[in-house]
Amino acid sequence: MFLSQLYLKNFRNYKHQHLKFNQNLNLIVGANAQGKTNILEAIYLLGTGNSHRTNLDSELVNWNKDNFYIKGELIKKSQNYQLEVNYQGRNKIIKINSNKLQRISDLVGYLNIVIFSPEDLSLVKGSPSRRRKFINLEVSQISSYYKHLLTEYGKILKQRNNLLKEIRDNNIPQHMLQVWEQQLIDTGSKIIKRRLEALDKLSILAKLMQRKITDGKETLLLKYDTKLEINTESSIQEIKEQFKYLLNKKREREIEHGVTKVGPHRDDISLIVNNIDIRKFGSQGQQRTTALAIKLAELEFMKAEIGEYPILLLDDVFSELDEGRRFKLLKVIQNKIQTFITTTHLKQVQEFNGKHKFFKIKKGSVIEG
Ligand SMILES: Nc1ncnc2c1ncn2[C@@H]1O[C@H](COP(=O)(O)OP(=O)(O)O)[C@@H](O)[C@H]1O
Ligand SMILES: [Mg+2]
Repeated sequence: MFLSQLYLKNFRNYKHQHLKFNQNLNLIVGANAQGKTNILEAIYLLGTGNSHRTNLDSELVNWNKDNFYIKGELIKKSQNYQLEVNYQGRNKIIKINSNKLQRISDLVGYLNIVIFSPEDLSLVKGSPSRRRKFINLEVSQISSYYKHLLTEYGKILKQRNNLLKEIRDNNIPQHMLQVWEQQLIDTGSKIIKRRLEALDKLSILAKLMQRKITDGKETLLLKYDTKLEINTESSIQEIKEQFKYLLNKKREREIEHGVTKVGPHRDDISLIVNNIDIRKFGSQGQQRTTALAIKLAELEFMKAEIGEYPILLLDDVFSELDEGRRFKLLKVIQNKIQTFITTTHLKQVQEFNGKHKFFKIKKGSVIEG
């Protein structure tokens, strides 16, 4: 798949901007704070319905305006799709081929995206929430049902946490928890099951990629890290039973603290290289290699799930990788995956000899090269 065109109106620092992209490499070059990432953000929004930088859509509107509009032309399996996002009066209206979508999650499955930004370099050493975000985004993009489950789970969790506090303050009796708890277990277990399935596949791919990048020196293993005693083969029933068991066990303490302490919102992914948990003990080089291996695995994972490579957004990370890693990355993507690279260093991208297009960015306007 590839994005052939993009139009931005009143989006961040762009007033009116029309862009025609190359099917292979698009190099977005410019000094800091000129609007490079804003372009990737708009593309990301067309793919997922949300920004990768903020949950507040109002921040995306140009400061002097009160609405923004983005349009993209997607070509996928020789079909054309027009994707539109219109933000007006605190509402986001999304259209595909001029048909308005009922829910944002209906956008899932059109423009698939893998993004690699400086934040991802901290995937290994960052907090568990960083890794949960990664797996959530991954599974959301292949399943709108999963995206829906996440939203539901968030609501249930909030309700249950409120109830825990009310019980602690003796405002309501403890049995009021039951209904919410059942819902938490049902929805949470489905989320965990899908994460286990996805990680199982991702782990195999990431292992291959890590070996490729390190010339066979490092073996990477991704494992779902949870307080529940489950494994990849666990059935949904087993997950539910474990979840229930732990909630029973921790209920008193949860009431005391007024928060839910078990469930997918507390889980993590362990990253093991040559039998060592590199979340704690990885060198900086290993962290970078692992982040890159996981990103490359994501590309292959999506290809396997949806039958086509997604597009790849590389925000400011290309120059963070050393020459060896850059070379390995290019080998994987060239002539196969539409890629958008932002960088302040013109030099590093001048070494490209494949098909590509330059975009020079200055203060929210673009010169195509
Ligand atoms: N809502 C907005 N309206 C107008 N300008 C904005 C808005 N949000 C950010 N900007 C401007 O966009 C620029 C940052 O764009 P960004 O794409 O992040 O830069 P970079 O080229 O470093 O990736 C800054 O100059 C900032 O002031
Ligand atoms: Mg940037």
